[in-house]
Amino acid sequence: MRVLSGIQPSGSLHIGNYFGMMQPMIAYQKQEELFVFIVNLHALTTITDAEELKRNTINAAADFLALGLKPEKSIFWVQSDVAEVTELTWILSNVTSMGLLERCHSYKDKIAKGIVPNHGLFAYPVLMAADILLYQSNIIPVGKDQKQHVEVARDIAVRFNHTFGQTFVLPEPEINEQLAVVPGLDGQKMSKSYNNAIDIFTDRETLDRTVMKVVTDSTPVDEPKNPDTCNLFALYSLFASPEKTEELRERYLRPGLKYVDVKKELAQLIWDYFGEHRDKRAKLVEREDTIREILNEGAKKARRIARETMELVRDRVGIRY
Ligand code: ADP
Ligand code: TRP
Repeated sequence: MRVLSGIQPSGSLHIGNYFGMMQPMIAYQKQEELFVFIVNLHALTTITDAEELKRNTINAAADFLALGLKPEKSIFWVQSDVAEVTELTWILSNVTSMGLLERCHSYKDKIAKGIVPNHGLFAYPVLMAADILLYQSNIIPVGKDQKQHVEVARDIAVRFNHTFGQTFVLPEPEINEQLAVVPGLDGQKMSKSYNNAIDIFTDRETLDRTVMKVVTDSTPVDEPKNPDTCNLFALYSLFASPEKTEELRERYLRPGLKYVDVKKELAQLIWDYFGEHRDKRAKLVEREDTIREILNEGAKKARRIARETMELVRDRVGIRY
């Protein structure tokens, strides 16, 4: 089984990225053939500062490696290093209906927020389909917000196979339903672009300050509180053991709980949770050459598979003559 997923280098990675995608991906490297890549071409839809994109790309790679991704057990590369993906995007565009793209929630949400769309934003799911189909991937672990995009990739593959003959494996999204959406500071989906994220790797002072901003309700201290509607509780339960989470639930149900105390405990939990990884990351960033070597090696392996697929695709559509 081929498992594949990508992450945009559009800012510091946060705990939503970690629980929604990075942790499940890293867990896969034990059993399956794992493909992980940094989707810098997708990030071009939002970033126009070249230096920022370059820095974010290396930082995202350092984050993944520090969190336990093993280059010897996976294929890890930067999307743009395998140019075949842009060729496949164009070919797939011709079997993608406008309606399929117009129905994408993520596109519609961005328009609703007042973003004036360019063609890149509209065509974003076709590039993502090319990412997935180029490597003949079976399973795509993503957060819930990306499920529809994987379904679009599948629809495009079905249409292509029907038009030109069996070529692509049909991919399946894989969503961890329990962790489908990690809430941000304001209770909305945590996202780099909503300014509501808790970053995985940050200094202690920033972490403490950020966690203090988790929005809670105004139930007075001397009244019981509802853990099931509390954003702070949801975040706490991601980091604490089931026993500790249960203890906190009981404290919520008794009068006297102060949210500020829970916030302090949460900051400590997050700090400890990523402690080892933080040390590893600090060492990694001092050896940027090693990170670049790992990405180069990954791109070589990815390119080999991409070329094989493209030979077949070019033949099927008639541009290999
Ligand atoms: P962002 O919304 O912060 O820009 P991305 O779109 O780059 O995040 O998402 C990278 C991966 O992390 C995707 O698989 C996405 O579904 C997952 N992800 C992002 N935010 C969350 C979240 N709040 N909860 C769960 N998964 C998330
Ligand atoms: N669009 C995805 C996101 O924003 C990132 C992505 C690009 C991706 N290509 C992919 C995820 C292929 C899985 C498979 O999160």
